[in-house]
Amino acid sequence: MINDDLPPQAFTKQDEGDDLAFYAPPRLVAHIDDCAIAALTSFYRHRLPTGARLLDLMSSWVSHLPDDRSYAHVVGHGMNVEELLANPRLDQWFVQDLNVRPTMALADQAFNAVLCCVGVQYLQRPFEVFAEVRRTLVPDGPFIVSYSNRCFPTKAVAIWRTLSMKDQASLISNYMNRSGFHDVEAHVLADGGSGDPLVIVIGLA
Ligand SMILES: C[S@@+](CC[C@H](N)C(=O)[O-])C[C@H]1O[C@@H](n2cnc3c(N)ncnc32)[C@H](O)[C@@H]1O
Repeated sequence: MINDDLPPQAFTKQDEGDDLAFYAPPRLVAHIDDCAIAALTSFYRHRLPTGARLLDLMSSWVSHLPDDRSYAHVVGHGMNVEELLANPRLDQWFVQDLNVRPTMALADQAFNAVLCCVGVQYLQRPFEVFAEVRRTLVPDGPFIVSYSNRCFPTKAVAIWRTLSMKDQASLISNYMNRSGFHDVEAHVLADGGSGDPLVIVIGLA
């Protein structure tokens, strides 16, 4: 299942240099604005049960989880040690370039939910990564993928850069459906009228 029926060119990047080198300088910045973050945090507050075991895939120094909720265990995955060390919500974390190695040393059904905020556009082997996420989720556990209209363009895959935000939701839904997720839905959490837009695609394992 290597990128399914999409052509290899769909997953090329303008900058094919080493991703770990690109992410070596820590970026302790907000990648989406306060309104978009508030909308995502509110969604997490309602969708993630207190006490859940969570994986924050493609994380950084923030996970956007609500301060007034506690979770049993939060594992973070990212590309920069300093960013992950600065993230107060993570109980455990690891660094891994998913474009080099899409499988993760995580147990089957380890998580009640997996989150991925504004990172999906960088995945060059999304079908393998999504299948791996599904493996780590309990049955019917949600995978919540969020995205905006901002990215590091030289590192986003070619197909992402050609699509509208609506079609990007279809692309992520395709990643989900082809990887075995069910009840896949897209929701606009922020319409971008007065700030950054934010869309989520959610599918159940
Ligand atoms: C724009 S940041 C988003 C960080 C965080 N999720 C947030 O909401 O602020 C994109 C993230 O994608 C992840 N990423 C980028 N390229 C990657 C790769 N090749 N393999 C694994 N993760 C990658 C890194 O963790 C990076 O911090």
